[in-house]
Amino acid sequence: MADETVPGGESLAALLHEQRRFEPPAAFAAQANAQPGIYEEAAADRLRFWEQQAERLEWGQRWERVLDWELPFAKWFVGGKLNVSVNCVDRHVAAGLGERVAFHWEGEPGDTRTITYADLQRMVCQAANALESLGVRAGDTVAIYMPMLPETVAAMLACARIGAPHTVVFGGFSAEALAGRIQDCDARVVITADGGYRRGAPSGLKPAVDEALQSCPNVRSVLVVRRTGQDVAWQEGRDVWWHDLVERQPTTHEAQLFDAEHPLYIMYTSGTTAKPKGILHTSGGYLTHVSATHRLVFDIKPEQDVFWTAADIGWVTGHSYIVYGPLANGTTSVMYEGTPDTPARDRWWQIVERYKVTILYTAPTTIRTFMKWGEQHLEGHDLSSLRLLGSVGEPINPEAWMWYRRHVGGERCPIVDTWWQTETGGIMISPLPGITATKPGAAMRPLPGISADVVDDQGRSVGNGQGGYLVLTEPWPGMLRGIWGDPERYRQTYWSRFPNWYFAGDGAKRDEDGDIWLLGRVDDVMNVSGHRISTTEVEHALVGHPAVAEAAVVGASDPTTGQAIVAFVTVKGEAADDPSAGAVLVGELRNHVAKEIGPIAKPRQIILTPELPKTRSGKIMRRLLRDVAEHRELGDVTTLMDPTVVNMIGEKLAQTP
Ligand code: WT7
Repeated sequence: MADETVPGGESLAALLHEQRRFEPPAAFAAQANAQPGIYEEAAADRLRFWEQQAERLEWGQRWERVLDWELPFAKWFVGGKLNVSVNCVDRHVAAGLGERVAFHWEGEPGDTRTITYADLQRMVCQAANALESLGVRAGDTVAIYMPMLPETVAAMLACARIGAPHTVVFGGFSAEALAGRIQDCDARVVITADGGYRRGAPSGLKPAVDEALQSCPNVRSVLVVRRTGQDVAWQEGRDVWWHDLVERQPTTHEAQLFDAEHPLYIMYTSGTTAKPKGILHTSGGYLTHVSATHRLVFDIKPEQDVFWTAADIGWVTGHSYIVYGPLANGTTSVMYEGTPDTPARDRWWQIVERYKVTILYTAPTTIRTFMKWGEQHLEGHDLSSLRLLGSVGEPINPEAWMWYRRHVGGERCPIVDTWWQTETGGIMISPLPGITATKPGAAMRPLPGISADVVDDQGRSVGNGQGGYLVLTEPWPGMLRGIWGDPERYRQTYWSRFPNWYFAGDGAKRDEDGDIWLLGRVDDVMNVSGHRISTTEVEHALVGHPAVAEAAVVGASDPTTGQAIVAFVTVKGEAADDPSAGAVLVGELRNHVAKEIGPIAKPRQIILTPELPKTRSGKIMRRLLRDVAEHRELGDVTTLMDPTVVNMIGEKLAQTP
């Protein structure tokens, strides 16, 4: 493993010799929500710790037991009842905080909206009434395919309010991908918009919904927010405008209580097969986990802070740290619709300055993009309101960490590198600002109440200075409750590699102090710009094209996106030999993948090759292809059926732009 590179291109060996330490500033430590002793307290009685966190929420009925654990199925706060949307909105209004801003929203073209908690309450109530008028009942699933709008948050909370689990599909996914998700969870209602603004232009969403619904006959209603004013096709009887239906509803709605284990949402994520997994999250434990971690890791002071998770609501980061965690804590957040370079590369720093953002949470890939653009775009902007920075989505390389600290954080803000997954629901491994002396590139230690370990192949805990697999050894409140409709796959994917532990799919290392460094996925899952994409899913899309015979996809390290998708493809017909036909086909294949999955899954490179390297038993050697794609010295190739194949592929790669 020693000569492998981590995203950003630094070698693993260099990473492990990282000696820099950053002590929490004394003034930060003195005022921090998390005080020393919290780890010991939680370790002494883990369930009591989580119970105390749950007590910060409003329950209509208290739980009887904190945890029922029948491996691998957990129930948290058993017997407890609550309403998630009441916790996120109504209780703050009832406490006299109705005029507090929930969201400073900014559209890409520069339009702005200020949504207070009282505004949000009215919007959520209206949307809940509208969904009920469309016949949505507790337990029905609703698909949401939206840009970043206040209505997106209202739609999610309205679903939560009436007990209808939502599945938010990222707007960058294709019609095919949307259809697959709608079918899998049998959603009958879809909430969307005509479009949203991306890179300075309106980008349609409704057309993808129309296309998807051709293969989703069970969908009876489509609720459409007008955002861009684009022309849209309209199916009478099925399609209804948000402003016609929702905005005419009463602004109050009586919320019911739901069981702590009532399904809250399903979030689809890529696994090692072609079919995405519907990760199920429930209500009481999830809200406890995300609100507690939001408060402790980001040191939230709701009266003062302006919090900005610069991620899309369509990913779990947006669910947990734009919507549920911050709102449960009564936080003021910033929400921005568009891209960071529209109209110019200082857009984010304008936003930080304008709203006096105090806490910024984003992904390493974005930080590396800003590094590439240069620090001149930050200069001249007053970033002194910032007091804490967060990172999520992939390992952060020390160089990006140091740049973030220096140029964004002004050398004064602690950085929290937060490791978690769609499946974990909320943050699991992270420094606590005010307590932890941080190391550039390390996620450090499991949070209070979380139990993790690094183990070898046999499941033995590795010593300090050793690498292995990351496992979670005790259930936690935000954990997934299963894969929608597939309990067997749930057991198989997460609980079979090591019989009693949750296998995360990540490699990790304990340093000499016992602190944890995440090293990336150990399965066939790529991490491209912090987005999880399965190699199998891209291969599946490629072989679906009539010209493709076989495809092998690998994630190769990339200086900006962490990993980039590189596809090796054998083709049928003339494109195999004719270079100009080959170039045309490569373009066609990239578009084909975008259509099947979404633009985020477009390969960086597609190499047409007459053959793929296979073992004598016929297995494609992806590891070797990764070495080729990363221009690494190749190891032992003698187990290959035809060892000359790799040289030939290497030459092809050198000729491919
Ligand atoms: C995978 C989960 C968590 C929300 C966004 C991604 C990688 C995530 C870190 C980090 C190293 C990280 C892991 C993980 N990952 N955060 N701080 N350091 N790796 O959610 O799409 O479910 O992906 O992202 O490989 O397994 P996701």
